Amino acid sequence: MTRKGIILAGGSGSRLDPLTRIACKQLLPIYDKPMIYYPLSTLMLGGIREILIISTPKDLPAFRNLLGDGRQLGIRLEYQEQAAPEGIAQAFLLAESFLAGAGAALILGDNLFYGKLDFLRSALGLQQGACIFGYHVRDPERFGVVEFDAEHRVLSIEEKPRVPRSHYAVPGLYVYDGTVVERTKKLQPSARHELEITDLNNAYLADGLLEVRLLGRGIAWLDTGTPASLLEAGNYIATIEHQQNLKIACLEEIAFNQNLITRSGFEQVIAETRNPDYRRYLEGVLAEKDRIASFSSPASASVSPVETSG
Ligand code: G1P
Repeated sequence: MTRKGIILAGGSGSRLDPLTRIACKQLLPIYDKPMIYYPLSTLMLGGIREILIISTPKDLPAFRNLLGDGRQLGIRLEYQEQAAPEGIAQAFLLAESFLAGAGAALILGDNLFYGKLDFLRSALGLQQGACIFGYHVRDPERFGVVEFDAEHRVLSIEEKPRVPRSHYAVPGLYVYDGTVVERTKKLQPSARHELEITDLNNAYLADGLLEVRLLGRGIAWLDTGTPASLLEAGNYIATIEHQQNLKIACLEEIAFNQNLITRSGFEQVIAETRNPDYRRYLEGVLAEKDRIASFSSPASASVSPVETSG
């Protein structure tokens, strides 16, 4: 099924004030890139090419300024205002005409994933229903929490329960079929006057159409909600990038490696990159591609290609 992407980058970011007086949370730096690069890279690596970015009327122009129509990355980006923060699930009502009946992958603009994204690619292959994920955390009461039985059948999903029934939080990455808009229309606002993503997931669950897949230890899901966790996430990215000399969520590299842009398109991106270190990195990506291409006969021992991870 065709699947389109949505990045929801709303919210007031009050726990990060006064940082969020300069720019909204999803534009704050995570080490060497704006935060939204990371969820965008996750969708791109999942194979999604059409993406709607939803944010407040105040912040939306900054996203548009940063990413444009996506052409330089070989993808299509659209923008939509969320006039008032009326819940995560409201994204589907705002995205109705963009989706035009297609299935959707929604990622929250402050959710960072690092590791092999096979879990997402396989979820995107589902024909029917919804797929969400479960991630073991220290403090599940801060999130949506999934409870399941010994066979991993979902028993309940609760939004920020005072007494969590498991240690598995639901990350802000959700995959839905083409019925998502209609199902969202049937939801009632919660006590805090929001259309809750957990209620949408429970609607799929009630119809036997919700899959929850647990993410293993090989995946990092990083929180960015407080100054301390923002710093930790930045340090995490810096540590891996420095050790490997490979960038995480380098959108231009991903676009090139996924053949979304041509060699000359990539060269143009390089020419327009003002930061000399970033430019040198992109030049290295190009040189490595040329080096690989220069081998005419297959080597006797082979290595698997490096995944550009989000
Ligand atoms: C939201 C969702 C919650 C989810 C979390 C993931 O919470 O309501 O179910 O676990 O995102 O980041 P928020 O961060 O908006 O409080």
